[in-house]
Amino acid sequence: MVQVNGNYLKLKAGYLFPEIARRVKAFSEANPEAAIIRLGIGDVTEPLPEACRTAMKAAVDAMGTREGFHGYGPEQGYLWLREKIAATDFQARGCAITAEEIFVSDGSKCDSSNILDILGEGNRIAVTDPVYPVYVDSNVMAGRTGDADAAGQYGGLTYLPITAENGFTAQIPTGQVDLIYLCFPNNPTGAVATREQLRAWVDYARANEALILFDAAYEAFIQDPELPHSIYEIEGARECAIEFRSFSKNAGFTGTRCALTVVPRGLMGTAANGEKVELWGLWNRRQCTKFNGVSYIVQRGAEAVYSPEGQAQVKALIDFYMENAAIIRQELSAAGLQVYGGEQAPYVWLKTPEGVDSWGFFDRLLSQAHVVGTPGSGFGAAGEGYFRLSAFNSRANVEEAMRRVRAL
Ligand code: MLT
Repeated sequence: MVQVNGNYLKLKAGYLFPEIARRVKAFSEANPEAAIIRLGIGDVTEPLPEACRTAMKAAVDAMGTREGFHGYGPEQGYLWLREKIAATDFQARGCAITAEEIFVSDGSKCDSSNILDILGEGNRIAVTDPVYPVYVDSNVMAGRTGDADAAGQYGGLTYLPITAENGFTAQIPTGQVDLIYLCFPNNPTGAVATREQLRAWVDYARANEALILFDAAYEAFIQDPELPHSIYEIEGARECAIEFRSFSKNAGFTGTRCALTVVPRGLMGTAANGEKVELWGLWNRRQCTKFNGVSYIVQRGAEAVYSPEGQAQVKALIDFYMENAAIIRQELSAAGLQVYGGEQAPYVWLKTPEGVDSWGFFDRLLSQAHVVGTPGSGFGAAGEGYFRLSAFNSRANVEEAMRRVRAL
């Protein structure tokens, strides 16, 4: 008799985005005439940059020749891509990250879950609340938590509330935790961490021999030149942090799939016998065993992001989505709603009107304005009373969605 992984049975309801999709489908079937505008899931809408398309087409043609054909690539990614990432995304910002420390992958979501493969079962884990649900659910699936309580919080996890009261930046824990998930610019609140705030986390992690899992998938949306894009801009972070990056949101690769994880050499964990073990070696081993790399064609597309044309085209995409975010902020404020985020991130986080909870606001927006957003409570108990709107859509859709919201 085959047994299932009982940890899956601890998961609360569906994963947030499929659950939203299910509700939208039901509404849409009952109201086929409704022109629904989706500002829910953070999925890009604008075409792939021309530089990426041109590079991918050339790679497809190369694959059609004996000389240009590529079979299995390096599990870590092609060196020509890793070198460009290291130079442009890290060294140019003063971070001493080398190509060897970059592992190209098919997504930050996958990597931020897969990383648990190399981490022990006894770690005390801290997540912010609200939080990108993948960090929590992947720990539940891996059996690293207890059961959920009535509020949906899992036993064994330390939740660090991020609310308007603390400026949406979590307080450093007073007790000991071993593994800390941070995401800045933040999904879902759109908040961003200053250098000083990141330094406090790095100091905590070093003092407590903890590991920070830093999700920087939205770093390209930072507008303020003073703000850090990488945790490695903070001194000492190489000793205590792994960083996740993605081409999904900057270059529109959500459907194309390419991302990267940085595991610095010399970043150590502790084995059960007390011996220090380098995490780089474990991650390399994990990837070589379980992963066959990202396709040659896609990696050529990602490489084109670093060409002068690619950089200009990516900047234009970011500017476009950030103008959408500004419109959303402005219109919601004009409608009398309290808004946060949307200035250094493609997400606007709003306070739901008095007496309306997150799912109540979701239903109201869907049924009355035919606009889809994401209920804050779907990101955690402290997200109750908040709601997220994504800036990823066409200008016409964003303007029309805001017109309908204001008319409510
Ligand atoms: C979101 O809407 O939060 C994003 O789609 C998350 C993701 O990229 O997986």
